[in-house]
Amino acid sequence: MQNRFDSDALNWDANPTTQLLKQAIEKELDAHVQFNPNWHVLDYGSGTGNILLHVLPKVAHVTAMDNSMGMIEVLRSKIPLPYSNAVTTILHNADTDHLPKHTFDCILSSMTLHHIKDTQGFVSECFSALTQSGSLILIDLCKENGSFHKEIDATIYHFGFDMEYIQTLLQQTGFSNVSVHEFYAIFKDHAQQSFPVFFAIARK
Ligand SMILES: C[S@@+](CC[C@H](N)C(=O)[O-])C[C@H]1O[C@@H](n2cnc3c(N)ncnc32)[C@H](O)[C@@H]1O
Repeated sequence: MQNRFDSDALNWDANPTTQLLKQAIEKELDAHVQFNPNWHVLDYGSGTGNILLHVLPKVAHVTAMDNSMGMIEVLRSKIPLPYSNAVTTILHNADTDHLPKHTFDCILSSMTLHHIKDTQGFVSECFSALTQSGSLILIDLCKENGSFHKEIDATIYHFGFDMEYIQTLLQQTGFSNVSVHEFYAIFKDHAQQSFPVFFAIARK
């Protein structure tokens, strides 16, 4: 069954807001994460692979999971030939499917958490899916008033998150070295407002 992301996929990268956010995330990742050439990274809710393509040259392998086949197809079309064996794509729904255990050295998920129904369940799945001392990086909207999306549909479960909630959730799940900070704000024309975005990083 098609979801909204399937129909958005082909035009996703043409959106200037997407490109500005991508640049801000790349800068933040470079400032806070020392990617290791031996790492197997999971990009959860990978979309068209914008973040994945930045990380790919720095690690051994990236698995991209997303529940939109449209997004996965666009992502696959963007993987440079020399890296074609370094990427695995998996159609996966966080609301119904489990992650493999003790598999990834780093899990990153950008702008996807607010689309996942059970935040606590997902963070717990990520904890189990990480190898010992693995890192989790979550990027998403800070708590907002519901006007970020022009139209509210069934894919939106949360109007962003309190950064304190994310901090506590990560600590209570068992993560250490938890740090959550605001790093960027997305300006939305339809709302004539900027929406702050947080960057959370934690160690298993
Ligand atoms: C806002 S996009 C972000 C894409 C990409 N991470 C980025 O930063 O450009 C959210 C992505 O999460 C995916 N997604 C939404 N709900 C999901 C779920 N329950 N399980 C897996 N993927 C989901 C969507 O298909 C979409 O590609």
